[in-house]
Amino acid sequence: MLGLLVQGRVQVNQQVVHSPTLEVTAFDTVLADGELIQPGKAAHYLMLNKPAGILSATDDPVHPTVMDLLPPELAKELHIGGRLDRASTGLMLLTNDGQWSRRATDPERKSPKIYRVTLGNPIHPDTEKVFAEGIHFPFEDITTSPAKLERLSDTECRLTIYEGRYHQIKRMFGRFRNPVIALHREAMGAIRLDSNLQPGQFRSLTDEEIASV
Ligand code: URA
Repeated sequence: MLGLLVQGRVQVNQQVVHSPTLEVTAFDTVLADGELIQPGKAAHYLMLNKPAGILSATDDPVHPTVMDLLPPELAKELHIGGRLDRASTGLMLLTNDGQWSRRATDPERKSPKIYRVTLGNPIHPDTEKVFAEGIHFPFEDITTSPAKLERLSDTECRLTIYEGRYHQIKRMFGRFRNPVIALHREAMGAIRLDSNLQPGQFRSLTDEEIASV
């Protein structure tokens, strides 16, 4: 293959390539001397408005999952980029591109995730301060990145967090013994839930949304 590369006989996605270090994924079409070596499979990137009561899992013996909301042929190829609890609603990303979903959910990237949160009790006056300082989770031994809280009413807020730890928001409000009654994800990074999507509906991401991750 190296000889073919040097001689300019290899094409990846219709471009002649020379570099032996170019990373080729299953989504790339590769030709050598015009002969198809790898067809390049179709990449899928979707957003879905998750309804309450549906599991964000690929398969479950008891509960319906988000995959049951998709055509079976498509569902069997996809995985979830960033889970939501069963009762939570809103933006979910689904793809068959593992590198892309790893970037979308990598806590090191500090990409904002925006949630609308409804609480069982009035939001304690110290909440903004405590969330902005970060909360230590002993189980993982991590301290959450400073989170931003915008009050919408006594018991409702818009919360921006920068990781997606297990039950993160419930555990953050748990510090104030304030139960989360409803949790709706509005955005992940630059991708906002499309307001035209009813619960259970999905659409493909635009090129711009895909490139934002
Ligand atoms: N934090 C939670 O506690 N639950 C979710 O579903 C998402 C973030």
